Amino acid sequence: MDTIITLQRFFDFSPYISILEISYILASILFVLGLKKLSHPDTARNGNLWAAAGMGLAILCTILFHKTKLENGTYEGISNILFILVALFIGSFVGWFAARKVKMTAMPQMVSLFNGMGGACAALISLMEFPRMQEALASQHAASMFTGEAVAILLGLGIGGVSFAGSMVAFGKLDERIGDLKSPVLRYINLAFLALLLIFIVFIMFQVPVAGQTWMIYVLALLALVYGVTFVMPIGGADMPVVISLLNSFTGVAAAMGGFLYNNQAMLTGGILVGSSGTILTILMCRAMNRSLLNVIIGAFGGSTAAGTQSGDQAVKEITLSDAAILLSYSQKVFIVPGYGLAVAQAQHLCQELDTLLSSKGVVVKYGIHPVAGRMPGHMNVLLAEADVPYEKLLEMEDANNEMGSTDVVIVVGANDVVNPAAEEDPSSPIAGMPVIQVWNAKNVIVMKRSMAKGYAAIENKLFYHPKTRMLFGDAKATLQKLVTAIKSL
Ligand code: TAP
Repeated sequence: MDTIITLQRFFDFSPYISILEISYILASILFVLGLKKLSHPDTARNGNLWAAAGMGLAILCTILFHKTKLENGTYEGISNILFILVALFIGSFVGWFAARKVKMTAMPQMVSLFNGMGGACAALISLMEFPRMQEALASQHAASMFTGEAVAILLGLGIGGVSFAGSMVAFGKLDERIGDLKSPVLRYINLAFLALLLIFIVFIMFQVPVAGQTWMIYVLALLALVYGVTFVMPIGGADMPVVISLLNSFTGVAAAMGGFLYNNQAMLTGGILVGSSGTILTILMCRAMNRSLLNVIIGAFGGSTAAGTQSGDQAVKEITLSDAAILLSYSQKVFIVPGYGLAVAQAQHLCQELDTLLSSKGVVVKYGIHPVAGRMPGHMNVLLAEADVPYEKLLEMEDANNEMGSTDVVIVVGANDVVNPAAEEDPSSPIAGMPVIQVWNAKNVIVMKRSMAKGYAAIENKLFYHPKTRMLFGDAKATLQKLVTAIKSL
């Protein structure tokens, strides 16, 4: 018993605060290490667990050790623990259940929904804290609410509200429940709402604090929600991953505001990490598509009206399954270049089966992974990892391009824009300058897709008419299945 008391005293340099602070530092370290581990598929699962452990530690220690100093100098612990535990249980159950149930193709929707919840939490904190701050300032007869605390509260609500409403619209669009609302007028309405939001934040700060006068915080909440909707509404549904990543960084910043407000280091570090990684991801995605963020936000492509190269009356050549099977079986090196269609068809396991089959015949099989193939960062890596494709076989675009000249056959599985030569050849193309996988440098190209339909950028693809290309039409999964059977029967 004595040892425990001595230990407690050792940690309690100032009553109860230090254990909590140490736990927050530990949690922050776990967040940073977790994030680092997320950068490689082999360690990503562990990274997730480490960051979750950090969050668990911060929550547990807050419940156990957080004390409020009372006027008489004593400390009081958290009293409504039961409510917190019930809410935690419900939230964890819903999150766990949704994550187990979600299909890989619906992952962006889920990320968007969860991100919206983060924004809503940050906004709710501000809604709760504003009346308290106002009352405290009123009792001190302050002339205005021009304080750091007010900045944290108002920005937390403004940014969190935009993130919540924007993420909900993004979810609706990705889930095809909401269509695009494209109108040049919306841009001006958007800007007007943004200006109004910022002006209203400044307006509130210069108000004389009057206890109980809370209408202004609700007006701010409403403005933030409306701006969140009008901000995301005109953006093309297919541009949503970039927007979600941007909204994700908003949520991080809003959570960091809560960290400032409560002087909570774990919340602050967590928020800053989410905010900065979301921003970096947004920039990287824009760069990989060779588009500016402004271009994404004002929706220059992703719609069906985009201009593009014309194929004229060129005809495509098709290949039969048996010819494809023979060509592949007698190759030395084959590249598989997957795209969004692989995710739609859920053909990753069959890719792996084809890979194993060809490898057993002595064919070297590799995968060329474009950074924005699919609809979310790392989409192809995640799908192929799910099918147990060894990570060493996945080559980044530059490395894949270096090997194209020595490749016998490239199989393009449900990819379109990321293998479109227009990016290099046509300066007027909407994707001009976007780096692409130069599959046409290989000896033969087989393109698997269902039709001549365009991809995400809504432009023609001259690759389909290239002399080296032959089309193998059909759903990627069904076609790969038939191809595997054909190769087995050779
Ligand atoms: P896309 O250009 O979208 O092309 C996908 C192709 O897959 C379509 O042409 C479609 O043709 C085919 N497809 C669809 N379902 C199929 C199925 N069941 N079986 C076989 N084929 C199927 O895809 P991509 O080449 O991966 O390029 C990604 C695009 O998304 C890029 O423009 C990129 O900028 C954009 N983008 C990516 C991200 C990230 S982070 N990945 C974020 C935002 C935007 P059919 O209908 O004829 O089958």
